[in-house]
Amino acid sequence: MRSVKSPLQGWNTAGTRLAVLIVIVLQALGLTAGWPQEPAQPRIDEEIAKQEKIYRSQGAEVPSGYVTNRALSDYAGLLLSGFCDALGGLGNADRWLDIGAGSGQAILDYYAPEDEAAPAEKCARSGAKARAVAMSIEDRRTDKWREQAASLGGDRIRYLYGKRLRDYSLEELGKFQIITDVFGGFTYTENLSLFVEKVLSLLEIGGVFYTLMPGVYLENGKDRLGILYLTELEDAVGRREKVCSWLKKTACVKVTCESKSDWKRPTELINIRKVCSDVSVPRLKLWEFEAGYPPARRFQVVQ
Ligand SMILES: C[S@@+](CC[C@H](N)C(=O)[O-])C[C@H]1O[C@@H](n2cnc3c(N)ncnc32)[C@H](O)[C@@H]1O
Repeated sequence: MRSVKSPLQGWNTAGTRLAVLIVIVLQALGLTAGWPQEPAQPRIDEEIAKQEKIYRSQGAEVPSGYVTNRALSDYAGLLLSGFCDALGGLGNADRWLDIGAGSGQAILDYYAPEDEAAPAEKCARSGAKARAVAMSIEDRRTDKWREQAASLGGDRIRYLYGKRLRDYSLEELGKFQIITDVFGGFTYTENLSLFVEKVLSLLEIGGVFYTLMPGVYLENGKDRLGILYLTELEDAVGRREKVCSWLKKTACVKVTCESKSDWKRPTELINIRKVCSDVSVPRLKLWEFEAGYPPARRFQVVQ
């Protein structure tokens, strides 16, 4: 397979060094580098095809930066505090959906037998556990997953693959109390507003979506200079829009963001609680897409 670069790799030629310098100067002046007048659809299609290759990669071809086996303890460390307690508070009749689950390791940890993991690593109180659904575009199930699914029986844990979140109907998936996404579809999708709309349609009222977005303009404004952003948003008249301010314009949700300016990439930890059923997400149009892990994306708000 032709190797596909991470958007931040290869910044060492004179040309790219100059480009980085220009970005730093523009950022210092509070400006953004100009976006093209119109999205270049053939280039976007080419990049989406490259992205497919990353999803389909197996064995030695999987790029080392494309991590698909984070543990539940990693999720607890990456998501807003409160995630572990919320998961631990779910009962037998409740449901947890992990979008972009990779190998489903977080769900395996949650269901690990009592003696195999410390309670803190399982985010679970002994006894009751929610039914869990892992979703991935590509099938990354391991033997461990198959064994555990067989020994639990029924549909305590399910693994869905072969399509994207947007391709499932509400009837197929049902509703959930907790939905997580750790470097999954929220970070990878080329249709961010549709993605968020779909997630919210699958949440029960009172349910929460826990996620994060790396490489974004931070809500607290404490961005370091010279950052190469991964997900950039513009409002309808071309001004920079932060991902959290865009999400907060959604009807029927309560959005909480925590800005991490000292992480390798400026990252927003995000939690979206659905508070009523008339959800409406401000629509975004994809302007640019560059394959990677995660990809680089630019969106503009559509009026
Ligand atoms: C980098 S892996 C992350 C896996 C896991 N969450 C972890 O942290 O180890 C990205 C995952 O997101 C999935 N993914 C990307 N876009 C998706 C979408 N629109 N719908 C469902 N899954 C998606 C990929 O198939 C893959 O399983």
